[in-house]
Amino acid sequence: MTVKTDSLLAINGGTPARSRMDPYMAPGGKALDEAEEQAVLDVLRAKRLFRFSGPEEGESKADRFERAFAKSLGAAHALAVTSGTAALICGLQGIGVGPGDEVILPAYTWMASATAVMAVGGIPVIAEIDESLTLDPVDAERKISPHTKAIMPVHMRGAPARMDAILDIAQRRGLRVIEDCAQGNGASFGGRRLGSIGDVGCFSLQFSKIITTGEGGMVATNDQDIWQRAFMFHDVAAFHRLQLEDEAVLWGANFRMSEMPAAIGLVQLGRLQGFVDAARARKEMLLAGIQPSAADRGVTFRDIPDPAGDSGIALAMFLDSPAKARAAAEALNAENIAAGVLYQPDRRDIHVYAHWLPVLTKRSWTEGGGPWRWAKRDICYAPEMCPRSLDILGRAVVLNVDPYMSNTDVEETVDGVTKVLDALA
Ligand SMILES: Cc1ncc(COP(=O)(O)O)c(C=O)c1O
Repeated sequence: MTVKTDSLLAINGGTPARSRMDPYMAPGGKALDEAEEQAVLDVLRAKRLFRFSGPEEGESKADRFERAFAKSLGAAHALAVTSGTAALICGLQGIGVGPGDEVILPAYTWMASATAVMAVGGIPVIAEIDESLTLDPVDAERKISPHTKAIMPVHMRGAPARMDAILDIAQRRGLRVIEDCAQGNGASFGGRRLGSIGDVGCFSLQFSKIITTGEGGMVATNDQDIWQRAFMFHDVAAFHRLQLEDEAVLWGANFRMSEMPAAIGLVQLGRLQGFVDAARARKEMLLAGIQPSAADRGVTFRDIPDPAGDSGIALAMFLDSPAKARAAAEALNAENIAAGVLYQPDRRDIHVYAHWLPVLTKRSWTEGGGPWRWAKRDICYAPEMCPRSLDILGRAVVLNVDPYMSNTDVEETVDGVTKVLDALA
């Protein structure tokens, strides 16, 4: 690896370490080619846009996508839906979370993890994260009340949550586990693919995820009853397909995936392992290059519960203060390296609970008071309620690891990070 001699930071007028800024990170989106085009054309030509019927008989793309997705996870069932949020809502209905039921979720996750709970009338209970950037099992257990129904680990930035400890708590305390895998597609824990470990797993296929259908989602489960409940909810009242006795049918909404995204998803699913392998290889090279100088400067790295299961799409390091983390991110951006600090009090980012204002203030759509009207005890939220999470996130600088990075991109990134860490030492 060649180390550049120009040690003047780009932010101070030096030459940027990377010749071009990382483009938007969307591996699946970048990969779209004739294969997805053909898949969409096939759907259009068959005039079969709706999964459950069309002018031509034959198997629907959504059916095939679900089967392939379930098989790739090693799960018994998968259900294709319209978004990751829809997957969470259907998954929550699947495990029977309803009005007043509490669900414990981490302080660091996209706000939809919490609003999905609210959408079914449940109460989000926010717990600390630790240096894994995922749910701290000790705080999660501390937050259990007699009204807790489920724990929602969220596999952030491609890496698994502490699933062994979380499953142990759930088993001991009689709770359900719903995995939010929106950012963890392709990753695993203990050799098991994320989304197949808890009672139910929920995926997003939105454009910035590792594989995409533009918008879309998937629910996965090994439990026939959970699948049936999720199916009923996603399809009004199981109008299509499920042959149920009248008294067994529950009402639902409509979160059905249509055929064109399903056709794209089938092609994209075939690309997933390639992206994971490429991201892992690049992350390994980046870490090998950065770690030696980082250690000398007191910079530490994200504690990944099962490094072998990391999908590799992000590299997070911790500096010793929020001010240093901000300075590092700004200097890295000037080097054309896409990096960001995970929490800044003055920059609204709804990946951090402190910015979930409509939740923290219990804002409601109607005068009735939102889901908290069903709360079985006093629930209090405050921006400072998870101080450890804010400290960790405020010191965390994260780099995207794009599977499309070339070896030169990787080498230049190592140069840039080393240069910035040296200057901040
Ligand atoms: C952790 C997490 N959960 C849930 C979602 C919601 O997924 P969608 O945007 O597809 O509704 C996202 C999307 O970014 C996410 O990152």
